[in-house]
Amino acid sequence: MDLRKTLDSYPQVFVVCDRTVEAFARLLGDYPTLTFYASESTKTPETAVEICRWLLEHGADRDALVIAVGGGVTTDLVGFAASIYKRGIRYANVPTTLLAMVDAGLGGKTGVNLDDYKNMLGSFRQPEFTWLLPDVLRSLPRREFLSGAAEMLKTFIIDNREDGYARTVKLLSDFAATGVSPVDTSAGLEELSALISAASAVKQDIVSRDPLERGERRVLNLGHTWAHAIEWWQHQAAGAPARPYTHGEAVAIGIIAAARKAEELGIAEALPAPSPASSAPSPSAPRRLSEKLAADFAACGLPTELPCSEDELAAAIARDKKAEASKGSGSKTVNYVLPVRIGKVVISAVSLPS
Ligand code: GLY
Repeated sequence: MDLRKTLDSYPQVFVVCDRTVEAFARLLGDYPTLTFYASESTKTPETAVEICRWLLEHGADRDALVIAVGGGVTTDLVGFAASIYKRGIRYANVPTTLLAMVDAGLGGKTGVNLDDYKNMLGSFRQPEFTWLLPDVLRSLPRREFLSGAAEMLKTFIIDNREDGYARTVKLLSDFAATGVSPVDTSAGLEELSALISAASAVKQDIVSRDPLERGERRVLNLGHTWAHAIEWWQHQAAGAPARPYTHGEAVAIGIIAAARKAEELGIAEALPAPSPASSAPSPSAPRRLSEKLAADFAACGLPTELPCSEDELAAAIARDKKAEASKGSGSKTVNYVLPVRIGKVVISAVSLPS
């Protein structure tokens, strides 16, 4: 499929892009283009209204297609604006970050922040398409690349399609060890592209079965209960780090916390014993799922430990929009997504102390 030809088949096309990728967005064609600074602080209802006003001023009608070019903030925000403009027009994503390619740009969750509450206003509206161009990742800073890679690891822990988990760990640990990014070699880019396709197929399959997150789709929140709490804690707490974790880094930490919780509840399976044919297992070889994940993530260059105590995160976990009040009792229930093994997770409702 040719992106230009696809875009030309729509009667009206508008582009909204993050300023950092404006030059790239202009390559899509000579379409009216609105640029803005994409960040959590501009991911607001006000910016969504500005996008709608700009669409109106430029004569966008109900047949128009809006293209979001950028990372997850851009795809969430533009998708939200498209979902409310004239009661909803079509939009498509051209993600420019790994995170948006494997997660945010797929599945039709759109949204903006409301004050300190992340993604508190939003809608489900599926994009017309999400165009994956892994070459674009050449200009992505390493930390942002790793942040997206954490979501890719998350996806393969949910469904280890095409042995994606081990292949992603290998790709990232080679990157960490050599300093050569997979996007800078043709073999690396080919492998990365295959992994992006596999991860996006896993997500698309889950979303096709549960587009509105009534049940199964919740598995995609693996690690996110802790991740959202960490993000909130670093935003609020006086002792928060000067260099806060990115969303993906917080997800990596959250996945390990989820594995520990799964072990505590007896849900995680023991790791398979090393085969007798292999050389004597090293005493430091991981014995539990959480240990394996922590060793793999550390080799990939991802953080693995909570930045504060579980107690400090408890309040943040309870205030997350995914924590639900249980009927009839004053307590709240959190649907934890817990890994059983690599390739299998379960959803477990746990009551929080009231
Ligand atoms: N990012 C999780 C989801 O799209 O459901």
